[in-house]
Amino acid sequence: MTRILLTRRWPGAVEQVLAARFETVLNEGDRPMDAAALAEALRNFDAVLPTVSDRLPDTLFAGGNLRAKILGNFGVGYNHIDVAAAKAAGIVVTNTPGVLTDCTADLAVSLLLAVARRTGEGERQVRADAWDGWRPTHMIGTKVSGKTLGIIGFGRIGKAMAKRCRFGFDMDVVFYNRSKVAEEEAKRFGARQLETVEDVLKAADFVSLHCPGGGENRYLMNAARFAAMKAGAYLINTARGDVVDEAALIDALERGVIRGAGLDVYEAEPAVPQRLRALENVVLLPHLGSATEETRTAMGMKVVDNITAFFAGQEPPDRVA
Ligand code: DGY
Repeated sequence: MTRILLTRRWPGAVEQVLAARFETVLNEGDRPMDAAALAEALRNFDAVLPTVSDRLPDTLFAGGNLRAKILGNFGVGYNHIDVAAAKAAGIVVTNTPGVLTDCTADLAVSLLLAVARRTGEGERQVRADAWDGWRPTHMIGTKVSGKTLGIIGFGRIGKAMAKRCRFGFDMDVVFYNRSKVAEEEAKRFGARQLETVEDVLKAADFVSLHCPGGGENRYLMNAARFAAMKAGAYLINTARGDVVDEAALIDALERGVIRGAGLDVYEAEPAVPQRLRALENVVLLPHLGSATEETRTAMGMKVVDNITAFFAGQEPPDRVA
């Protein structure tokens, strides 16, 4: 029978479907697996189903003798897997696009609102019983409506973010995308494409990242680009931690180069630097972009579809390598 390994616990409904179709081994402890455990998994299972918290660098695929034929990634982003090395080892890689678009864009909007309106700070004040009553100058934030949102990466999630902010909050929306987006398509989402990342940074009161991590996008936001942002602007990151040079971001926040940041992802998750945690002008979430019952179940079902197709000798619908 086909042996599959889930590297973490998944929504119960998906675990049940998998157990009915395959010989399924669960990581009952639900703790991250280290490199040695993942290497062993690749030697002992036909399919390994990793998540963003599993690192699969090229070294894990070297040396041959691997039983694994497919990595069914639970997530749309897959920069934690060296896909070129997996492919060279004859292992197919799939992901879960589409089903987490709305929830991730919703979370990006909630970070944007939270950092602009200082809701994290306000909540901390109330919980600490430190609120001394309403007054006209208390905890003043920034108005969102009528401001300019700059999106970096106009894929599914970038478009969903544009739609929400243009049609929900009456924001002006501009974006940078590596390839040209048809004007009609951009208009459908109430957005305008600009030529360069710098053009977007110059125009935007809020910059929201929606590009993949890794490769050329590593440190796309660096010290020079924070300096190029409009005075008083905010950064929102629900994409990947390595798109941002975290040390440069902390420096920019501490020195007031930018006004604030709303972050769901970090360079070395789950570690979040103490200097970042010490700042009041940031809203920090623990990688919750896709964290709704509906979405996590849909992501799991996509993995099921991918590996079921693969082991039936068909092309998996979401093959990335
Ligand atoms: C994704 O799907 O990429 C989420 O960030 C979880 O991995």
